[in-house]
Amino acid sequence: MTATTGVEFRVAPGGALRGELTLPGDKSVSHRALMLGAIGQGATEIRGFLDGEDTVATLTALRALGVPIERQGTHHVMVHGVGRHGLRAAAAALDLGNSGTSTRLLTGLLAGQSFDAVLIGDDSLSRRPMRRLIEPLQRMGARIDCSPAGTLPLTVHGAGTLHGIEYTLPVASAQLKSAILLAGLYADGPTTVIEPETTRDHTERMLAHFGRTVRRDGARISVEPGELHGSAIEVPGDLSSAAFFLVAGSIVPGSDLLLRGAGVNPTRAAVIDILRAMGARIDVLNSRQAGGEPIADLRVRAAPLRGIDIPAALVPIAIDEFPAILIAAACATGTTRLVNAAELRVKESDRIAAMADGLAALGIGNEPQADGITVQGGKPGGGTIDSRGDHRIAMAFAIAGLNAAAPVRCLDCANVNTSFPGFADAVRALGGSIEAGHGG
Ligand code: S3P
Repeated sequence: MTATTGVEFRVAPGGALRGELTLPGDKSVSHRALMLGAIGQGATEIRGFLDGEDTVATLTALRALGVPIERQGTHHVMVHGVGRHGLRAAAAALDLGNSGTSTRLLTGLLAGQSFDAVLIGDDSLSRRPMRRLIEPLQRMGARIDCSPAGTLPLTVHGAGTLHGIEYTLPVASAQLKSAILLAGLYADGPTTVIEPETTRDHTERMLAHFGRTVRRDGARISVEPGELHGSAIEVPGDLSSAAFFLVAGSIVPGSDLLLRGAGVNPTRAAVIDILRAMGARIDVLNSRQAGGEPIADLRVRAAPLRGIDIPAALVPIAIDEFPAILIAAACATGTTRLVNAAELRVKESDRIAAMADGLAALGIGNEPQADGITVQGGKPGGGTIDSRGDHRIAMAFAIAGLNAAAPVRCLDCANVNTSFPGFADAVRALGGSIEAGHGG
């Protein structure tokens, strides 16, 4: 469903970035609002919805499962919940495109249904690991088939009632945690997930918003089966999208940006702490709540950055922001070391390899390791980057181009539309020189 080739960004270094940016809606929260709304009782009205290819993949899949969903505006969606047992078999396989969150969370939701479902996706999604998901769901009584490599396509067979389990996650993954908690809504007793490290807690917060009690006791998170009640959700601005502008505003001399309404959930917001530790000048202003999530306006002004050892404990709570953070490292004085980040190898691309190759193409010394990378800061030169069809790699190197010594060309950028439609327009509106076009 997603064209991953053809679109390229051509970025030229230039003057300061200035002005205000309206952020796209949070991707993680938009997915969850659709899914919980779908199995809730009554209507769920979502404002600030991310109109990206990933979240639209979830929306389309839920419609195929019999949920009436109205698009009332680009960012305004009405979900007419069918209740916990109201989903129906889809007529065809559910195509989830590039979206890992759609796939993992929907598999959890589908595990407790009485009908079969088949989940497919694009080449990138079809390479991503699914056994980590299947294993705990099987322990709950689910019946799920995957390819011999442990990847898509998945067939989730109708299982009826599942059994509550207590499960220690083998990796820090909010998608995995969320899938098990969603399956737990269909279990015969409580389900407990134990996290090795803290990961984003959007599912837990939203379950509470929909009237289900979620208990947290240290690393243990428990949910009881039961119904959800439709609710109004205001989606925060996506901090993962804001991260590119926190870095751009820091590295392009003279910049001063205001990013309004960014989600700053503490289980998600370590990018702010990491950039500040590097010397970034970021102010968190006007802190408030939206839809059960903390949000704030972020002001960033250009500042000299220095390399740091990124604290290992912060890695899971900044996991999507490392492409942007590594560009900050490339423009800093001194060395930045990232460890405890092996999960980056199984994202939309192998992000350690993609960043290592891209930084090297721009003349930035770096050394990739199995679970991280060491970057020697300096001044990026011009060059051509392969984004590998990964939205965050494409946006990271576009930002690098704003502060490079010569123009940067980023190939294979179409998937920026999975999380940030209008990214190039947003950069341009703030004064950046970027063109999005079709390459030869
Ligand atoms: C997400 C969890 C993270 C993150 C992804 C969104 C979520 O994935 O990388 O972009 O919404 O739960 P993992 O659970 O694989 O770490």
